[in-house]
Amino acid sequence: MLLRITIQQARVGMFVHRVDGNWLDSPFWTRSFKLAQPRDLVRLRQSAITSLVIDLSKGVGPLKASSALALGGSRRVAAQRAAPTSRLPTSEERELRRAAAMLHRTTRKLRTLFETVGAGDGLDTAVVHEVVADIETAVRERPRALLTMTRLKSKDEYSYRHSVAVCALVTHFARFLSLDAQTIQNLSIAALLHDIGKITIPSELLGKPGKLTGEEMALMQTHPQASYDLLQDERDLPDLVRDLCLHHHERIDGRGYPSGLAGAAISLPLRILSICDVYDAVTSIRPYKDPWSTKTALARMSRWHGQFDPVLLLRFFQSIGVAEQDLRKAGADLGPRAA
Ligand SMILES: [Fe+2]
Repeated sequence: MLLRITIQQARVGMFVHRVDGNWLDSPFWTRSFKLAQPRDLVRLRQSAITSLVIDLSKGVGPLKASSALALGGSRRVAAQRAAPTSRLPTSEERELRRAAAMLHRTTRKLRTLFETVGAGDGLDTAVVHEVVADIETAVRERPRALLTMTRLKSKDEYSYRHSVAVCALVTHFARFLSLDAQTIQNLSIAALLHDIGKITIPSELLGKPGKLTGEEMALMQTHPQASYDLLQDERDLPDLVRDLCLHHHERIDGRGYPSGLAGAAISLPLRILSICDVYDAVTSIRPYKDPWSTKTALARMSRWHGQFDPVLLLRFFQSIGVAEQDLRKAGADLGPRAA
């Protein structure tokens, strides 16, 4: 039996079926988990989560069953949500500071890494693995803080922060889809390096706020091939990583670039990377544009017929905690799944 409870009723031994609200508000990597340790309970109470759905068949219930609410009684939960939470304000600040420190460290390493490759001195794969591990830890321990920090992108650091954010998103999404560890690792590396070819594009063009001219667009669209070329001699990198970098702007309907791949020619890892890449770009805070909310991104991206795998797109938004009614609404706008 599923039961919705307030965060104050949570106790060790409960099995959390899901947290209400956005996944990014949860300090936990997975949607369902057992509250096994007191420190897990503390982390949960220090988060922005205000209510949970627990599974009584897999763990203990609340101490006062009468004050909990079986699923379906929305009025009471609404009242509980409106009540002030006991969240410690300093905890969130601490998490944000840690995420910012990680981001600062990672951005510095990525800048050196990209510039070294651009100078023809080869890729330091040990640093790549170090950065991927750092991001994986941050997403597991403080996903909301990390993605809050990566949304804000200055002109100078856009590419690096975008790489970190996409790496975080694909790592989470691939785990959500239960992909094997090797594929997740390759996807995370590709997410970090997919736009490395942008170091060959003039910085005025990368930061141009308005619409690009035809000539500028053609130049911009050379960056996936440039990413591939810069990495082609890196024998430590699996071919899958290079292929993902080369094809991350392909579309399911064949109207992408550089090769116009379509349907089944676009692999699952590539479909994942493509969704996460665009999601981060449209939700980023830039000096010249308003970021889209997650809900707006869902509504608009699901109407871009032919760009993404429609079923996978809904799974992605499910993985970051979008409510089921919003997913159903977006699903009505989507066409049949591409081959
Ligand atoms: Fe790109």
